[in-house]
Amino acid sequence: MTAITQSVDLDRRGRVAVLTVNNPPVNALSQHVRQGLRDGVKQAIADSAVSALVIVCAGRTFIAGADITEFGKPPREPGLHEVLDLIESSPKPVVAAIHGTALGGGLEVTLACHYRVGVKDARFGLPEVKLGLLPGAGGTQRLPRVVGVEKGLAMMVSGDPIRADEALQHGLIDAIVEGDLAAAGVGFAEKVLAEKRPLKKIRDLDEKLAAVRGKPEVFANFRKSVARQIRGFRAPENIIKAVEAAVSLPFDQGLKRERELFVELLSSSESKAQRYFFFAEREAAKIPDVPSDTPAKEIKKAAVIGAGTMGGGIAMNFANAGIPVTVVEVAREALDRGLGIVRKNYEATASRGRLTAQDVEKRMGLITGTTDFNAVRDADIIIEAVFEEMPIKKEVFAKLDAIAKPDAVLATNTSTLDVNEIASATKRPESVIGTHFFSPANVMRLLENVRGNRSSKTTVATAMAVGRKIGKVPVLVGVCYGFVGNRMLHQRGLQAEKLILEGALPHQVDKVLTDFGFPMGPFAMGDLAGLDVGWRIRKGRGAKSPVADRICELGRFGQKTGAGYFRYEKGDRTPIPDPEVEKIIVDVATAQGITRRHVSDEEILQRLLYPMVNEGAKILEEKIAIRASDIDVIWVYGYGWPVYRGGPMFWADQIGLKALRDKMLEFQKATGDAFWTPAPLLVRLADQGKGFLAA
Ligand code: 3HC
Ligand code: NAI
Repeated sequence: MTAITQSVDLDRRGRVAVLTVNNPPVNALSQHVRQGLRDGVKQAIADSAVSALVIVCAGRTFIAGADITEFGKPPREPGLHEVLDLIESSPKPVVAAIHGTALGGGLEVTLACHYRVGVKDARFGLPEVKLGLLPGAGGTQRLPRVVGVEKGLAMMVSGDPIRADEALQHGLIDAIVEGDLAAAGVGFAEKVLAEKRPLKKIRDLDEKLAAVRGKPEVFANFRKSVARQIRGFRAPENIIKAVEAAVSLPFDQGLKRERELFVELLSSSESKAQRYFFFAEREAAKIPDVPSDTPAKEIKKAAVIGAGTMGGGIAMNFANAGIPVTVVEVAREALDRGLGIVRKNYEATASRGRLTAQDVEKRMGLITGTTDFNAVRDADIIIEAVFEEMPIKKEVFAKLDAIAKPDAVLATNTSTLDVNEIASATKRPESVIGTHFFSPANVMRLLENVRGNRSSKTTVATAMAVGRKIGKVPVLVGVCYGFVGNRMLHQRGLQAEKLILEGALPHQVDKVLTDFGFPMGPFAMGDLAGLDVGWRIRKGRGAKSPVADRICELGRFGQKTGAGYFRYEKGDRTPIPDPEVEKIIVDVATAQGITRRHVSDEEILQRLLYPMVNEGAKILEEKIAIRASDIDVIWVYGYGWPVYRGGPMFWADQIGLKALRDKMLEFQKATGDAFWTPAPLLVRLADQGKGFLAA
């Protein structure tokens, strides 16, 4: 075995040279990997005792792509293209032997090889689109030559990997192998040599491209089919253009076009934001005083208290992950209703072909409904999702304290109540934590885990681990009203209400946010969630929201009653502006002595989003969030903040905190409203010329 570089070894097995990449954790194509591959391939080609080459990886995966940390830095030799050219033009066959995930530049390395074999569990994909990029090392030119234009487009625009059986079916790999991977690669290379198979260079294939040449409708149809899902993103269109180039241009010119389109993306604000977000998401898993080796409790059984809107969805998450879950309700009727909705949800998924009837039964079989609280006795985690009332929550926790295993985690799904007070109803506050799911709980990826004053490290580590296990993106936050997400959302809501009285209309306000990239604006969101919920809470507290109250008094509770801030046609969720609401708004404004004026889209955007950033600054200063990027993760996964804008804190940094602070002061001067007082942290950072993320 010869070490070519710190991360690439060259070994000889008979007449086959084996190049092993070892660059933990994911064998990214860092400079020393590229150099090692280049020099190793050169050596093997020059060695007359070598007849074929195998490229294989050590550790948990094949090369998972370019080293993202190198993006934005000055390029260092050798470039990936040089390495790939060398591999593809090798006079000796090169075989890639793949396990784990061959992603991005990793898959592109394999596409430059003459043959590819993989283990059954391997995955193959070009996920660059998720970083706002396109496959920049020949992927857009080679993949369609192998799998065809439509499959290639689908893989590159979704970024989702495919499994080995599918890869085999589409000709992306030549064989599925078992046993020691390097040995299997060598075995395959021996076969290639023995059968005198030709050097299969993907660049020379044309059949699958010729099939769509002169058929622009293939691209037009594809663009139409993905229009909704790619709205606002820049990379998908460049990927499509690069594949068009693959079809219409010779290979080398196609590569040049790919390069231009890649460089354009690399310097785009969208990719910058998406690359930032890739690391932000991984950073959120790290808790400074709860290191990753903190023992987390293994969750073999779960329980959920309450089978309402949230309880049912939370239970589904466990069943989906194969964890048995007991659901406890007060009465049989509520239980049957709740579990009935769970079944209907699964059946709807099955009817769309995303689950088999068998899967539905298997998952339902993992959910046990009961009205007997004692059934939670053997649960490792119990998540309470009963009515949002402190006395009820405390009663439930006191009960759980008496019944649950001594080391069980006791979690609450409260959205507004004090987790510390709930914990005080038990004799084990160290085992209590908030697990704030978002509605619909079986769909939304965000999980705000709320750390109480007394939550133990094990409890925190368990809540984070279980969140990941059930497919969520857990972010740890502290106790305060609304936690991070809803506390910031509230600020936005206050301004939305003011804006419509001052002169904007609900559809204008919503459009500014949908144009920004949110899936919907505050008014359509209110209609979706149901306006009656807030109305009831306001009545209980003696609070008022004049426009919303008048709308509710008319029985307009949103989509469920066919009308709210907007009206809806039967069976259609499209919000339609309604003159009746416009009249209410004008009446309320008149009654309040407000002279309505034209409000610009720019003002709407600033007034909706700057207060959120300001609240984010307070949240950071109060240490409710561990870091600014956690706030961004919360907003992207919980509220549909467009990922190509990074998140509110990243976005604020791009605007510049000084400009943002000054605009707040301007609004304050114009309105005399203390609401616009910039948070001390915002002021400090603005004065120092810093951003939240660099802070
Ligand atoms: N570059 C640098 N670091 C990377 C990386 C990459 N491509 N991929 C992962 N990492 C780091 C992560 O930041 C993380 O670091 P940390 O432990 O310090 O937080 C560590 O590797 C482990 O990553 P995960 O926590 O994500 O590990 P998982 O096992 O859950 O997932 C994975 C592994 C599926 C490979 C996942 O990391 C992944 O999807 N990586 C990105 C793959 C990708 O986007 N590749 C394309 C890159 S762009 C490209 O290749 C351009 C080319 O076309 C020219
Ligand atoms: P819900 O009213 O739909 O369901 C509550 C259920 O709990 C009812 O089925 C009720 O019968 C049951 N229940 C009441 N007391 C009980 C008891 N002592 N033992 C067992 N079951 C009992 O309410 P929803 O919307 O599911 O909310 C539950 C919790 O989740 C609340 O704390 C709420 O604030 C929180 N939450 C709600 C969100 C939402 O969008 N609905 C979002 C995030 C959190």
